[in-house]
Amino acid sequence: MSTRKHSRITDWVRKDRHRRTFLPFAIPYRQVAVLILWVISGTTEPASAQELSFPGSTEAQALSLLHERCFSCHNEEDRKGGLVLTSRAAIESANQEFDLLRPGQPELSELIAVLAANADPHMPPKEQLTDAEIKLLSDWVSAGGKWATPPTSTEARAPALPTRDQLSPPAPSELPVLTMALSPSEEELAFGRGNRLIVCQSPQKKDARLTRLTGHRDYVRSLAWNPLIENRLVSGGYRRIVYWDTEVEEPLIIQETGIEGQVTALSFSTDGRLLYAGVSRPGISGVIHCWTIPGFEDHVTWKGHQDSIFALDVSSDGSFLASASGDRSIAFWETDTFAQRSRIEAHSTQIMAISFSTDCRRLVTAGTDHQLRVWEWAKGDPLFQLGRHKQGLFATQWSGDGMAIVAADESGTVFRYTQIEEHSGAANARAAKEKKLKKVLGPVQSIATDHTGGIIYVGTQAGSVHILNEKGNTLNELTPSK
Ligand code: HEC
Repeated sequence: MSTRKHSRITDWVRKDRHRRTFLPFAIPYRQVAVLILWVISGTTEPASAQELSFPGSTEAQALSLLHERCFSCHNEEDRKGGLVLTSRAAIESANQEFDLLRPGQPELSELIAVLAANADPHMPPKEQLTDAEIKLLSDWVSAGGKWATPPTSTEARAPALPTRDQLSPPAPSELPVLTMALSPSEEELAFGRGNRLIVCQSPQKKDARLTRLTGHRDYVRSLAWNPLIENRLVSGGYRRIVYWDTEVEEPLIIQETGIEGQVTALSFSTDGRLLYAGVSRPGISGVIHCWTIPGFEDHVTWKGHQDSIFALDVSSDGSFLASASGDRSIAFWETDTFAQRSRIEAHSTQIMAISFSTDCRRLVTAGTDHQLRVWEWAKGDPLFQLGRHKQGLFATQWSGDGMAIVAADESGTVFRYTQIEEHSGAANARAAKEKKLKKVLGPVQSIATDHTGGIIYVGTQAGSVHILNEKGNTLNELTPSK
């Protein structure tokens, strides 16, 4: 392996190794942790998020990968392990001290060695790059480890995002229903299936009419109906939002300006005049945009999170916007000033879904940490947790009348909770009545329910939509072939 001169980095590493040897569980813990996190990240992220492939040359792809997986710790400000990877100059200066990157010789380059599953230290610390990703970086070093555009500032460090045309459309076998939304009249159900957007009239009926709208090249990741104007639907995908008139089946407006990432969450203000969008770059940022509708004017944008925003919801009194993120926090924004009212570190892993109760005081959150939690959010404490789940939860919704909460997990089990306590104090087991409605072919990616929580729409990774009643009987199933 590489012969390395004494350096700040090695000192740091030694200290750390030394410390670790005093922990009786040091080695197993590390391996187990890596394994667990690997399994978690392998199974709980929407599959599509993982498959985001970067177009372009090996160099462009390698830099994008370094950016997404390494730069958050090895930048000018953070310098983890004393190491900066964000510029060619920094890499060359590290090369003076040890074999960080030997052009043409990946087997002698520490930058590649640290990626192996059994490496110590192992990079990224709690994750495992896939074989394909390691090969990409290794090929890049073999080809000379070139770095055409020297990044300068924090913003400029981010590699240019691929354009929409550079993304390859999802494979026909990869058509997860990542998002769904029921129209205010409850007569139409909109859902994404891969890159298709489908609007279904009278979805409970066996002869339900499905209309396919074409407007996204990559996955449809978010949807919202305008609460006040009929037949107005907005859909979000990669670097694009489309505002539809579903009656004439045409886009009214296509908005792309300023959208630097995946549109992973959408929500209208209660008066239907503002649209909020969560624009995500996994592991880098979750930015919230706000536009007036229908013209997409008066643009306000702020960085709300350090990671993807998986859900947005506006309280029914219109005063707060809540955002939930992969950075494990939920943030609450005042809708008149856009100022942050509060932030809760709500889960120990990604938060995939949130939904306000009609009383605006409470909120339900679903996490990949197997927790479904009800909050009295202004106090910042969970009131209680709903059920004991063994799987990550990607989807939940509080019914419009406030009487029921529906949720579903990675195994495909759909739950419905009623008699929900108003206050904490009750033992968790009594905080609500749980009913397991059904097990569908999981994982479940999205859920929606009518005003009473009596009809439940469930969208799966496999691409089907199941429509259940409150007893768990199937009213209809919209399978991909339909
Ligand atoms: C979460 C923060 C974090 C991320 C992400 C991260 N590193 Fe590190 N890195 C560290 C820390 C901390 C050290 C100090 C070494 C240790 O753990 O003992 C380090 C050290 C290193 C070293 C020096 C190892 C040595 O033998 O001295 C290399 C090379 C490295 N990282 C490469 C990478 C690469 C390549 C990536 C992306 C694939 C990456 N790191 C991602 C935190 C991180």
